[in-house]
Amino acid sequence: MVKKSSFVLGIIVAVFACTIQAAEKPDLPSLQELTEARARLDSNDAHRPRFHFTPPQNWMNDPNGLIQYKGVYHLFYQHNPWDAVWGNMHWGHATSLDLVHWADRPIALPPTPGTFDEGGCFSGCAVVNDDGLPTFVYTGVLEHDSVNNYRPQSQGIAVSHDGLETFKKHPDNPLIPLPPSDFETKDFRDPCVWKDGDWWYNVIGSGEIGGAGKALLYRSRDLVEWEYLNPILTGDPEESGRIWECPSFFPLGDKHILMVSPIPGHKVSYFVGDFDGRKFTPDSFQVFDYGSSYAPQTFVDEQGRRLLFGWIREDRRGELHDAAGWAGAMSLPQELTLNANGKLNIAPVGEVKALRRNQKNWAMKTLTPNSGNLLADVSGNALEIWLDIEPGDAEKITLSFYQTPDGAEQTHLVYDVKTKTLGFDRSQSSLQDGVGKHLHETKIDLGDNEHLLLNLFLDRSVVELFANQNTYLATRVYPTKYDAQGMSISVQGGSAKVNLLSVWEMQSGM
Ligand code: FRU
Repeated sequence: MVKKSSFVLGIIVAVFACTIQAAEKPDLPSLQELTEARARLDSNDAHRPRFHFTPPQNWMNDPNGLIQYKGVYHLFYQHNPWDAVWGNMHWGHATSLDLVHWADRPIALPPTPGTFDEGGCFSGCAVVNDDGLPTFVYTGVLEHDSVNNYRPQSQGIAVSHDGLETFKKHPDNPLIPLPPSDFETKDFRDPCVWKDGDWWYNVIGSGEIGGAGKALLYRSRDLVEWEYLNPILTGDPEESGRIWECPSFFPLGDKHILMVSPIPGHKVSYFVGDFDGRKFTPDSFQVFDYGSSYAPQTFVDEQGRRLLFGWIREDRRGELHDAAGWAGAMSLPQELTLNANGKLNIAPVGEVKALRRNQKNWAMKTLTPNSGNLLADVSGNALEIWLDIEPGDAEKITLSFYQTPDGAEQTHLVYDVKTKTLGFDRSQSSLQDGVGKHLHETKIDLGDNEHLLLNLFLDRSVVELFANQNTYLATRVYPTKYDAQGMSISVQGGSAKVNLLSVWEMQSGM
């Protein structure tokens, strides 16, 4: 039996250790400091995007708590306030009236020492509770030593009484302390909550040890007392991974979509299927992005649109982003709809067009392997490109960008007509070591007489492609030369017809 005196001593030591640990953390930056940090980084760093949201400084990963509340869009995000590497998970915060111009807000949700989220406030969502108050439902972790070794993971809530400025954590947190006991898991996180009738429902990401990814369904009358129901779906580990992070489960048209961020592989994927209130029966499975985006979250805005933001990860060695003083970007806001084939249509929201300036157009041009470069006069690293092209008998169509005049650095977006693959060839994208240069490639669902429709966004180190409305590919490139800004379009093996090619310079959203 433990003696009382050593028990008391133990408590004193623990309290002391806690105080020391708490004292080790610097104060959170003020809004003024965040604003100054953003201005400093924006003016000094050629890799920092202009119209994709980035953290004001330091590390950012998943979008969290996406909500439009009283007209204002709120973007919260996983954030390390003190370093440009993962750790010390807080929720950062930014607001916007139009989804493209963002204002930083003070850090919204810090871990509370001595509680279930002492080791980090992990991902979660926002809903408006039955009293009309914005409420976060999120995962807290007690301790961690790396992103894949943190436990226990449990679920809590935090309510805002001042319109999403500050949050009060529920005194009974954690409200779901443990995963269900009917299978073995170490992973239990990232709640996705919605209301249906009198019940709140909650899908939490998980995966059975030695088994497959699972999305676990709970319900509650009040967001406080939760009852476990069942997995809405257990995947096939070969196809969709062993663990599902950040599930997003929602109705779209007459179907339901389950989006997951799977480990291993980290390729965001989605199932389309039917939900009977308990079980989800998928009829298709597809990778959403073979590139750099991860952990997307969706929400419905006041116009009733199903919108998505994803985290676009760094693709460079940790020391490089640590030295840069920031890491991570958000995708452009995207609108999801269901198409006639039962797949997702994916498009940047119309609001993005507000950032366009100085449009240049080319129409009805036939390209042959010997025709000159239509884009010889175009250069830049914050551009939108729209291309409607009929592949004709060409074998390949190549849109190159971030080209130095001597060709030492350049990135190619290549469409291979035969294999219907569309990919970013980054092999020559940068002279620097330690940055991602492998191919990011996807298949595109293009009918025989269909045109190729590319909508490409170049934003410094962030590159996002939307193709034929149903294909999405995000990548990162880190050219080193200030003049890596040239563009060209070429065809190989035959000729193709450009119906329309437009290029815009893009304004900053910050
Ligand atoms: C996904 C993820 C989540 C977790 C968060 C921690 O990127 O690992 O599962 O809640 O990031 O930052």
